[in-house]
Amino acid sequence: MADLYTTPTSLAELDRRATDYRYDLEADIRWSELAAPGALVPPSVLASLGADVAGIAASGQAELYDWCFGLLICQHFIELERVVIKWVKGNPALAPSQSLEWLRDEEIKHIQTFRRYRQHLLDQRPEDAEQAQALLHELHPPGHFQPEGDGDLLGLHYWTWITILAFEEYTVHLYTALNAAPETVQPAWLDVHRCHAQEEVCHVETDATYVKALEISEEDLLARSKLFVSWLMASYTKTFRVPAQMLRRLRPELEGQVSLGKPPKGFLDALLTSPDFAQTRACAPYLGWLAERKR
Ligand SMILES: [Fe+2]
Ligand SMILES: [Fe+2]
Repeated sequence: MADLYTTPTSLAELDRRATDYRYDLEADIRWSELAAPGALVPPSVLASLGADVAGIAASGQAELYDWCFGLLICQHFIELERVVIKWVKGNPALAPSQSLEWLRDEEIKHIQTFRRYRQHLLDQRPEDAEQAQALLHELHPPGHFQPEGDGDLLGLHYWTWITILAFEEYTVHLYTALNAAPETVQPAWLDVHRCHAQEEVCHVETDATYVKALEISEEDLLARSKLFVSWLMASYTKTFRVPAQMLRRLRPELEGQVSLGKPPKGFLDALLTSPDFAQTRACAPYLGWLAERKR
């Protein structure tokens, strides 16, 4: 590896992984059940993200809100998969590895998966589709996820990997939450997240291996992870508010009835304690410091 990284022996181990964790885009997702009922982001999950669950239910537009949230997730995932692909493709500072190649190939399939579900959502509501897409572009523009290093190459590498790692662990966590929800989740949507999480678990190992191989002091890591956690919370808070903003713009008569919600306390709690975020915590020690303070 280039000078930024030590050469971790664990990377060679990762490269010897069997690839039977991979899903088949056609066979492993119940695409034939796209029209079956079920929520995309049920109220129990929305509550943990700080959404105004009562206001949404009282508005009589819970299905439209759910549709907006589904579109947001598709868009958010597609954009971040693109960031990942761009980062690993031909990056001269990263020694080529089999794990990085798998990661890139799988992200291409993930983009296809979420594009397919997004198209289904757009086809479901042709009367709102065009405006919803324009709103998503305005409220959650591509490039919003571009990592902001603090200027030096080491900072850029840490920031990029930790952003990717936290996002990938979040995708696994979202599946955990959907799967545990007491409400009925749309079956094809649940399959999409199950399959995606199954591959992301492996990507998380790869990301964490690269972060841990960075030549970075403990003190520096604590300071950089503090900056990252502040950015992450601000960024996710903003993102989780997008569906309410979309709903209010699509149905202006609801203005005032649905609030933008509160900070996503459940997301922060998961970040601090859930096994789904174990690697993010291992690579962002400021989270450990925060967890201690909250005890
Ligand atoms: Fe992915
Ligand atoms: Fe991934």
